[in-house]
Amino acid sequence: MEIIENPQRMQERANQLRAEDKTIGFVPTMGYLHEGHLSLMRRARGECQVSVLSIFVNPTQFGPREDLDRYPRDMEGDLQKAASEQVDLVYLPSARDMYPAGFRTYVTVEELSEKLCGASRPGHFRGVTTVVLKLFNLVKPHRAYFGEKDYQQLTIIRKMVEDLNLDLQIVGMPTVRESDGLAMSSRNAYLSAGERRSALSLSRALKRAGEMVAGGERSAALLREEIRRTIEEEPNTQIDYIAVSHPLTLKDLERIAGPALIALAVQVGSTRLIDNCIVEAHAQ
Ligand code: PAJ
Repeated sequence: MEIIENPQRMQERANQLRAEDKTIGFVPTMGYLHEGHLSLMRRARGECQVSVLSIFVNPTQFGPREDLDRYPRDMEGDLQKAASEQVDLVYLPSARDMYPAGFRTYVTVEELSEKLCGASRPGHFRGVTTVVLKLFNLVKPHRAYFGEKDYQQLTIIRKMVEDLNLDLQIVGMPTVRESDGLAMSSRNAYLSAGERRSALSLSRALKRAGEMVAGGERSAALLREEIRRTIEEEPNTQIDYIAVSHPLTLKDLERIAGPALIALAVQVGSTRLIDNCIVEAHAQ
């Protein structure tokens, strides 16, 4: 497994691979790898001749009072996992190389970046789109893989690719969960045993909402109310938002008629967790 730290070196390697007509599959991450990340790496490896993983805890997507300094890290474990998934190349940029003194250029996908998580994390998606575009320019992938766990992020990146005519394909992959339903996340490492139990209410509430839609419920307000009740039953939970939204525009829906995104963010203890699902209203 090849490891590259220098951005110029990464770009030269990408040019070389392209000159050899190799298809490049890319999985950007912030590390502390779990099965969700690995599912993306497997798909990249299956579909492309060369698979590239990046690990970079991107400072520009963290707010001043967020968890940048305590974000979990395990470089040795991550490299072992990458090697056992037969990743071909790992790119490990430094913050100094990505954002040298005098860095002034940011990319913003308007409107979509202000909704849902964007409302409580101002500047977050600007940091995500900026780093992802930089990584695309360095790794030059033909395909890049993102999880539906971060549904809004995936939607925003698709929009950036469309609006800026980026010449690559974005592949979305389903959320990988623990056997009890908890969506896998590097931040789950922060949870105490009690908080871990409370955190289960997110997936339980989404499952319940899905059942209500399957049973004919169409009112977004009633779905949100049931989700709120399910989450507030558990100790140490504070709801940031519960949204029933159009899956492409992320605009609020009043009634479900077709596919809809149900997304939520909940503070469990001091850890902010997100989860979502897509529901579909079928004719009764
Ligand atoms: P990170 O949270 O490390 O996630 C990296 C990728 O793994 C993202 O595409 C995310 O959606 C996906 N992922 C995380 N948990 C998942 C799960 N349980 N099932 C399936 N996929 C999952 O998202 C980021 O990093 C950053 O914002 C990044 C895009 C790397 C930019 O810094």
